[in-house]
Amino acid sequence: MYVALLGRQPAISIAELERVFGDVRWFGGEAALIDTEEPIDIQRLGGTQKLGVVVAKFPLDDWRSVSKKIVTHYSREWAAYDGKITLGISAYGFHTTSRDVQKTGLLLKNKLKGNTSLRLIPNQDVALSTATAHHNKLGLSDNKVELLVVRGKTSIVVAESVGTQNITALAARDQGRPKRDAFVGMLPPKLAQILINLAAPNQPARLLDPFCGTGVVLQEALLLGYDVYGTDLAQKMIDYSQANLDWLQQTAHINGKVTLATADAMDARWQAPIDAVATETYLGQPFSAPPSPSKLTEVRGNCDHIIGTFLKNLADQLESGTPVAVAVPAWRASDGSFTHLPLVKNVEKFGFTRVPLTTVSPEQLLYYRPDQIVARELLVLQKS
Ligand SMILES: C[S@@+](CC[C@H](N)C(=O)[O-])C[C@H]1O[C@@H](n2cnc3c(N)ncnc32)[C@H](O)[C@@H]1O
Repeated sequence: MYVALLGRQPAISIAELERVFGDVRWFGGEAALIDTEEPIDIQRLGGTQKLGVVVAKFPLDDWRSVSKKIVTHYSREWAAYDGKITLGISAYGFHTTSRDVQKTGLLLKNKLKGNTSLRLIPNQDVALSTATAHHNKLGLSDNKVELLVVRGKTSIVVAESVGTQNITALAARDQGRPKRDAFVGMLPPKLAQILINLAAPNQPARLLDPFCGTGVVLQEALLLGYDVYGTDLAQKMIDYSQANLDWLQQTAHINGKVTLATADAMDARWQAPIDAVATETYLGQPFSAPPSPSKLTEVRGNCDHIIGTFLKNLADQLESGTPVAVAVPAWRASDGSFTHLPLVKNVEKFGFTRVPLTTVSPEQLLYYRPDQIVARELLVLQKS
């Protein structure tokens, strides 16, 4: 059993986990339990910040009692260890302070005498940041330990981290690419991973992105083991994707097959086979403030036409059951409400059904940063 600490938008993160692992449930508001014994590589998951193997489960209690149990357990477990252990402790969902969490580590340090020396990572907060855990390589070897102590609604779990999201590699893939384009948009690599996993969790084969832009989805799909097929209306974007994927193949030494071509997604004829589709479609123009009602009606109608025509065209060319994850625009008003594309209520009309998810409802799959007007609504579909 694993516990996953979910990203900034936990509903999107848990949806990804449910698609990949099936047997997943909420544990408090920011974590999920994954019921598998198989090893999990956190770097394949866009929405999980930290991952740990559950080593103990307790009834609900306060930090002090849990802390005592941790000290008793690990002072025994590490008593015979000959060498240095680096330890970080992160508490989630507790009413406690960073000082109290740090105190748990200090008590343990004092109890460990003899040949064991404990280096404690200082807690600025009750939980170590992803950056701190990552830079200290916690969870990546036996003597670099991060304890993830998570309080759910009805119990508490203690887990030993098996790794943190590799923010250095993600930033390098995002900012180190030779070709970027602020106007076309900057799909974060994490969100591209989530889209791919939402579409087709376990079947690396050939993945199509029909609005490939600068190639972020294709790049992440290559890293996940897919052959990739990208098309875009603009030749410039195909050139950008080519440059970015050449760079990735050289720097990361990956050998998936790449096919790129210009095509209008509304009438393209794609070459078979297409085993999965993951795409961030045309999102309309960017806005820095909420648009006027008439402007919103115009942009929404335009996007609905382009994306609806694309979906129909795509459905005609897919085998029944082919998984498709699509990010489409939704617009956020100043009161926090969203205007959706009409087509999201009618995906059946376009030849698709929604993939049922038990951990979240479809309306929760809206990705946006606090300052963004245009959100990305994630549709998890399959060809009818
Ligand atoms: C939001 S961007 C996608 C960005 C992409 N995820 C990336 O990694 O850069 C949308 C892309 O759709 C393309 N596009 C717009 N209308 C299109 C159409 N009818 N058919 C195909 N591509 C289209 C644009 O050229 C643009 O590259």
